[in-house]
Amino acid sequence: SYNGLALTPPMGWNDWSYYQCNIDESLIVAQAKALVSTGLAKKGYDTVTTDDCWMAGSRAADGSLQADPVKFPHGMAWLGKQIHALGLKFGIYEDEGTQTCGGYPGTWGHETQDANTFASWGVDYVKLDGCNVPTQPGRSSLQTYRSAYEKFSGALVATGRHMVFSDSMPAYFEGSSDWMASISDASKVSNLWREGADTALGQQSGAAKWSAIAYNYGYNVGLGQYAGPGHWNDPDFLLAGDDGLSTTEIQSQMSLWAEMAAPLISSTDLTKLSPQALAVLGNKRIIAVDQDPLGVQGHIVQQGTAYDVLTKPLANGDVSVVLFNKGTSSQTISTTAGAAGLGGSGPFQLTDLVDGRVTASNGVIAADVPAHGTVMYRVHRGASTKLAPAVSPSFDNGT
Ligand code: GLA
Repeated sequence: SYNGLALTPPMGWNDWSYYQCNIDESLIVAQAKALVSTGLAKKGYDTVTTDDCWMAGSRAADGSLQADPVKFPHGMAWLGKQIHALGLKFGIYEDEGTQTCGGYPGTWGHETQDANTFASWGVDYVKLDGCNVPTQPGRSSLQTYRSAYEKFSGALVATGRHMVFSDSMPAYFEGSSDWMASISDASKVSNLWREGADTALGQQSGAAKWSAIAYNYGYNVGLGQYAGPGHWNDPDFLLAGDDGLSTTEIQSQMSLWAEMAAPLISSTDLTKLSPQALAVLGNKRIIAVDQDPLGVQGHIVQQGTAYDVLTKPLANGDVSVVLFNKGTSSQTISTTAGAAGLGGSGPFQLTDLVDGRVTASNGVIAADVPAHGTVMYRVHRGASTKLAPAVSPSFDNGT
């Protein structure tokens, strides 16, 4: 890690996909409180990030950023104090360009001043978007972005305050020949980076949300070489809790994101989570796969008609296996412990990470998987000494 932070993927909540610019300080504090009262905070969801549109339309006379006086009348240092008083971390949004994506003052030319402002406000996490980065004569877009993001990254470290750095540069190169180079750069100067499209917004249809989840999975899953302790690929927000997605679909997103060691950042209204959404977000067995200290991003080991099999090695020698049915009808998906990276002979113990059921296997890893569904097993080499029945997910939500 370039700054010693984020040795496991960051976790928390962000207002953007659910609320966009319809935010204010009481909303952010209410969501932070809900993170605690739902029990999600103590499971690791510890960072509350205020995304775009928190600022006043212009800088103060001394050039410093200032909060929107109507939405955030107590200011951002006050907001940080409220969040810290709940035992949580304070995240904030800025943009490397001349303006944010929403048209508020960007950090271009103000990197050091803004990093110092954030440190003085008690910020613990900065998301730096990449809209409106100016074209510079004689320089490629990649060169311009790279040096600007390096400048901001260095400015954060120079404050002396520990601030996790979420970099958006690669998202502005998705589809270009510089995409991989931009990801490689981001992995050296930041802790996590968006490298592709936004996930769907809260008000969009369930179908749009599912296709965004499938799309973001698709661009993220092959990028494991860039991920590791302190530096993570970020395929954007978890949508569990939103309308329109089935429990099967929100479970798939959670399982796939955990298998990919992705940041687990919820963006929904936490004050009205269904028991199903809370069980999905709060599943300790699956969070443990995401947060595994080995820090390896899972990858595809087998593909067939409308399905992928992913494997992720874990620190204790177990392997996490996801059987993902991308299709629109149910199917049986089958692989082996050998294909998943556990060479040699069995027996093996399979723990279904959604319902906790433990079964024995001689090496076959198979399940009937519904359309858009996943089955996720933790595979342990050894005799099955602790066979356990399934328990209902709403009961066994990991609390
Ligand atoms: C971009 C980002 C989003 C969000 C908005 C804010 O679209 O990708 O995550 O930060 O800007 O305007």
